Order: sequence, then C-alpha cells, then structure tokens
Amino acid sequence: MTDRYAVIGNPISHSKSPIIHAAFARQTGQDLTYEAILGPLDGFAARVREFMGEGGKGMNVTVPFKIQAFELAERLTERARLAQAVNTLKFEADGGILGDNTDGIGMVRDIRDVLGVPIAGRRVLLLGAGGAARGVLLPLLDEKPACLVIANRTQEKAQQLAAQFADRGDVGVARFDDLGGQGFDIVINATSASLGGEGITLPAGAYGAGALAYDMVYGDQPTPFMLRAREQGAARVADGLGMLVGQAAESFFLWRGVRPETERVIAMLRAG
Ligand code: ATR
Repeated sequence: MTDRYAVIGNPISHSKSPIIHAAFARQTGQDLTYEAILGPLDGFAARVREFMGEGGKGMNVTVPFKIQAFELAERLTERARLAQAVNTLKFEADGGILGDNTDGIGMVRDIRDVLGVPIAGRRVLLLGAGGAARGVLLPLLDEKPACLVIANRTQEKAQQLAAQFADRGDVGVARFDDLGGQGFDIVINATSASLGGEGITLPAGAYGAGALAYDMVYGDQPTPFMLRAREQGAARVADGLGMLVGQAAESFFLWRGVRPETERVIAMLRAG
C-alpha cells in the first residue's frame, strides 16, 4: 500500500521537500506519496492529527511550527530533546507520535560525507545561539571535534547554550573580538544575518588555512556570509542546500529504514 507523508509549515508553497522526497522514493523504490500542507497558524496540532486520522505515516515540520511539534510529540529522540525543536514526526503503530530532529545530523553528514570535510579532531566555530544553533550542537559534538566554540552577538545566549551542552563535549564561548588568529577549520553560520542580507565580519585569522565556511541558509546565489567568508580567507564555502537534503534523508531513514543518497538530489536542485 502507498504510504502518505507530508511537510507542514506556513508558508509552505516554496518548500522543496516534496521534490526531494519524491526523488528519494524513486531512488530507493519506496512506495509513498509526499505532499505539502499549509498549517493554520492557530491550528497546527489539529491539522497534524487530521493527517494522522487520514492514515498519514509521518510529517516534516518547518517554520513556524518546530517548537509546537516538540510539544506535540509524546516521545522524543535525544537529539530532539536537546534541540527543543522537532522537524520530523513519525506516527507509530500504537497511535503515539515520535518527534525527532534531523537538522543537525543532516548538516553533519553534508559536511563530512558530501563535502568530505571531517569534523572529528577539527576546530569548529559556531556563529549564533538561537534555535538553529541549538539544533545542530549535539550532532556536532558527537563527531568529537578538537573544540567547538560558540560566538554570538549577545554573549549571554552563547553562554547559556554552552552550559546546557557542557556535559556532552568540549564547548567553549568566545566574543567575536576574541576570535582573531584562532584558525578555525570549520565556521558554521547559524545566525539569521544572511537572511537580512548581511555577511559576518570576523577578526583576521579566525579562518584557518583550508577553512570551510558553511552557511545553514541557502539560495540561488552565494549568501552574504559566504561572500564575506571568501573575502576573509575561507578556502571553501558552502550553503545549506546540502543540509536541507541531508535532513530530509535522515527523516526518510527514520520513516522507511533506508537512507537515500543525497549528492545527486542536491545536484538536481542546484540545476533547478
Ligand atoms: P533561529 O531559530 O534561526 O536560530 P533566532 O533564535 O531568532 O533564530 O536566532 C537568530 C540568531 O542570529 C541569534 O543568534 C542572533 O543573535 P542575537 O542572539 O545576538 O540576537 C543572530 N543574528 C541575527 N542577526 C544577526 C546579525 N546581523 N549579526 C550577527 N548575528 C545575528
């Protein structure tokens, strides 16, 4: 029987998830449909339960519902619990709802496996301390970087976030001004600065030799963060399209037990 899945968000018409999951289904021979649902701003949970009632097996959740999905899920994976946000719901045979967050592992696999940049043993700088940063911290720490430093415009938020993850690895906090000469191997932009059309200027020497600058945001053009990072000496830059496909692949894996290959799907989206 054909199983039904969907992504729910508001707005939703721009979502690439239906195209990505259709490509995954073709690639893996899985019999499923995947649709986009516009979630009512005042009726997220009811719309999820409606889809469940129609026989849906699982959903992806996007802006602005990831925290409501976290609250709705009756069971949570550890990474979702620490992220305090859910991007994947799995409707289980006993009627329960499992909440997962695949954003972080999707990004880690994109950096490590698709871009071929190991995180283990590397110096990693995470810019930002909001929901996007929180969502990737555990999977990043699980890779065992040499160090992971969080820098945020509002320093206290970085300190709070670091404290919450301190027992999971070596998490430090730095002011932007103190990053000079620190030679990070991987710099990840989890701020929303690119969305506002701004790059992020770091002190000289923050990017180490051969550094990767990775923006969680993506677009048709290089993001302001990527452009600024290149000017500042980053050897490689990447946007978050691979993370988008990577998180989708991990959701697909949670639902279907098969992990699709992402590289060709990223290339297909890039080609438009
Ligand atoms: P998200 O869920 O996308 O992480 P958020 O929780 O609102 O959104 O967090 C936005 C992050 O981007 C914050 O870390 C914010 O810094 P502050 O905590 O100081 O507000 C950061 N941010 C937004 N615009 C920025 C800019 N122009 N330069 C640097 N950091 C910026």
